[in-house]
Amino acid sequence: MAVIEISDLRKTYKGNTALDGVTLTVEPGEIFGIAGPNGAGKTTLVECASGLRRPDGGRLRVLGLDPHRERRELLERIGAQLQEAALPDAIKVGEALRMYASLYRRPAEWRSLMDEWGLSDRRNARFADLSGGWKQRLFIALALVGDPEVVFLDELTTGLDPDARRTTWGLIRAMRERGVTVVLVTHFMDEAEALCDRIAVVDHGRVVAEGAPGALIAEAGADSLENAYFTLTGRDLS
Ligand SMILES: Nc1ncnc2c1ncn2[C@@H]1O[C@H](COP(=O)(O)OP(=O)(O)OP(=O)(O)O)[C@@H](O)[C@H]1O
Ligand SMILES: [Mg+2]
Repeated sequence: MAVIEISDLRKTYKGNTALDGVTLTVEPGEIFGIAGPNGAGKTTLVECASGLRRPDGGRLRVLGLDPHRERRELLERIGAQLQEAALPDAIKVGEALRMYASLYRRPAEWRSLMDEWGLSDRRNARFADLSGGWKQRLFIALALVGDPEVVFLDELTTGLDPDARRTTWGLIRAMRERGVTVVLVTHFMDEAEALCDRIAVVDHGRVVAEGAPGALIAEAGADSLENAYFTLTGRDLS
């Protein structure tokens, strides 16, 4: 069974159409990329799939559940790192992980996660005092603290330095090796090419291209995913 099944999904914000009939399927254990220009609807799509927004129409199932009607059950089984996440200024790294772990019936071992993401040295740092990259790492660790079957990562490596990006790629691959399905929203075509098994390119709330990076490159007659993206959407990446 597919992990995520979406067909003809629609969402309008006060007359502004964010999703205009999105159809896609994500298979178990894959890293599925969602790419597309600013305002394409990527975050809205991820928010609908993680039960945070209610779509206006279409069909949506994640792990066989309706993210809106069966939200509580779904939240036990997914993790999300969202684009505009925030925490209270004064909360410490270790406290945030412990607190999030307490929200799940079967959490992961939060101390190991803190080690794995290199956060142990900063466990007593206040959220407000972390740099952007360290905040990002904390959010990723928080997305994993429920030991999820599916993880949504929105702009995962935005704001990370090149070293931290590479480290993060390794950790994403390790997630897949553990059998976690990963949905990754990204603006970086090198990242999509390196990590994703399949990619959907979204523009104006619709999927305009979908496939394995190699297939999209071949389809566009391009030499890289970045050039393929340009050919397929007629748009630059910004
Ligand atoms: N809460 C909201 N209220 C009104 N309009 C919104 C809201 N959130 C998003 N939109 C609009 O919906 C459209 C899709 O936005 P969305 O954030 O899903 O795009 P995105 O692909 O994630 O963009 P980005 O790459 O900039 O993160 C945009 O036109 C945006 O202005
Ligand atoms: Mg977004």
